[in-house]
Amino acid sequence: DALNLVVTGGAGYVGSVCTARLLAEGHAVTVVDDLSTGHADAVPEGARLVEGDAADATRDLLAKGSYDGVLHFAAKSLVGESMQDPAKYWHGNVGTTLRLLDAMRDHGTPRLVFSSTAATYGEPETSPIAETAPTRPTNTYGATKLAVDLAITGYARAHGLAAVSLRYFNVAGAHGGIGERHATETHLIPLVLQVATGARERIQIFGEDYPTEDGTAVRDYIHVSDLADAHLLALRHARAGEHLVYNLGNGTGFSVRQVIEACREVTGHPIPAAVAPRRAGDPAVLVAASDRAREELGWKPERADLAGIVADAWRFTQRRAEG
Ligand code: UFG
Repeated sequence: DALNLVVTGGAGYVGSVCTARLLAEGHAVTVVDDLSTGHADAVPEGARLVEGDAADATRDLLAKGSYDGVLHFAAKSLVGESMQDPAKYWHGNVGTTLRLLDAMRDHGTPRLVFSSTAATYGEPETSPIAETAPTRPTNTYGATKLAVDLAITGYARAHGLAAVSLRYFNVAGAHGGIGERHATETHLIPLVLQVATGARERIQIFGEDYPTEDGTAVRDYIHVSDLADAHLLALRHARAGEHLVYNLGNGTGFSVRQVIEACREVTGHPIPAAVAPRRAGDPAVLVAASDRAREELGWKPERADLAGIVADAWRFTQRRAEG
């Protein structure tokens, strides 16, 4: 069934890719984005863009129209910045989302899909990480996302909201001409690819003394298209009064060195690397156990191959570099 949806943060990387997929499935999408980090030209054709605060602008929409659900991507998402300026994250992520939840409650909006994160778990005791693992975030970003998850559970139970939180691991790749283009880029794959375009001289490896095979940190990279698939499935599986939580990753970890090597192979560029100190708050290994998403949602990541993920990101990077 075609749904009428609000997508907050639909001008951002993951939000715009999910918007494209929702439109392709025949859903109607109104994007709400304040364009603080997103780009108006990233909003796929066919979606309406309302420029404004994720809670206030969505409340206005819900008051005027009939919507089947909200996908809430809009958030502050830089781990380092969250430690320097916690207020920006507590207000921007928790405050805004509470006001959004109130608007949805007031207007009886039935469904919510929320972008949660692996950062809610902090430094894991066991790997891979299942949804039953303890949540002890090591940074403010992760703490604010966990706080929102806890609030959603309460709203779902009390007000009959059908809610799903998706805990992303390391999202990468590009989909149909949409990729990562942050003004302040902190993510490994786009930074490594900037070296290959000549925009950056070398990549810094943050820490070579982790208890991993080659000493560099290990992450679970998931293709943004596979992530978008999970959102479509989550919308379908959401149940009134329940809050479902799913980890989304491929279940395979790649070290920083392995990622750089994959980028060298894909781009044919030598990509000079230099070892630098560890980045504060970085766990050694973050790998997802996504069995729950596979079993309950029927989710099957189809682009788990790291070289393929990098190749898609590279195509996007080259296209942007050429203007
Ligand atoms: N890294 C480098 N050099 C760089 C950039 C990153 O060595 O120039 C390393 C990081 O230290 C880390 C790995 O590459 O070990 C991946 O770093 P990213 O910044 O790409 O991703 P993170 O794992 O830090 O962050 C991701 C999400 C966050 C989320 C976090 C959960 O992007 O939103 O996972 O811990 F909070």
